[in-house]
Amino acid sequence: MSQRAKFDQLFAEVDGIFNREAQVTFDVVLGTPMQRGTWGDLLEIGVYQGKCAGLMGLYAKPQETLVLVDVVDRFSNHMKRCLPDTTLSVNIGSSSTMKFNHDVADRSSRFIHVDRDPLPDWLRVGMG
Ligand SMILES: C[S@@+](CC[C@H](N)C(=O)[O-])C[C@H]1O[C@@H](n2cnc3c(N)ncnc32)[C@H](O)[C@@H]1O
Repeated sequence: MSQRAKFDQLFAEVDGIFNREAQVTFDVVLGTPMQRGTWGDLLEIGVYQGKCAGLMGLYAKPQETLVLVDVVDRFSNHMKRCLPDTTLSVNIGSSSTMKFNHDVADRSSRFIHVDRDPLPDWLRVGMG
């Protein structure tokens, strides 16, 4: 079964902002084989109930951590239930000011999804 078919089964009831086009894009990017030996964590800022994070977690390799950041925890219980084999780092607080549980600065991420609302100033300037 493909990761997206698993995602459809596991996360059908989870509310979220993750349309079909975005799901296909995540699927292609996350599923693209990387160079041998290349790995990195998967980070999402702005998780809500964990719709996007669910698909990200299905692609996490055993040595990778799914790092999730939100001001409210509306996701950790069902993420743990639906993704029992994925290593999770749950960080509750504002991404602007928080100290991450998981030391993101000392590790590299291969996929970062910033979906907090409003966008942080540093990203707005970067995209400007
Ligand atoms: C558009 S929703 C995210 C949708 C989500 N990615 C999904 O899969 O459905 C925006 C989220 O950003 C969170 N948020 C807002 N300000 C934040 C901040 N300063 N730091 C971290 N998360 C924040 C909100 O609590 C909300 O859950």
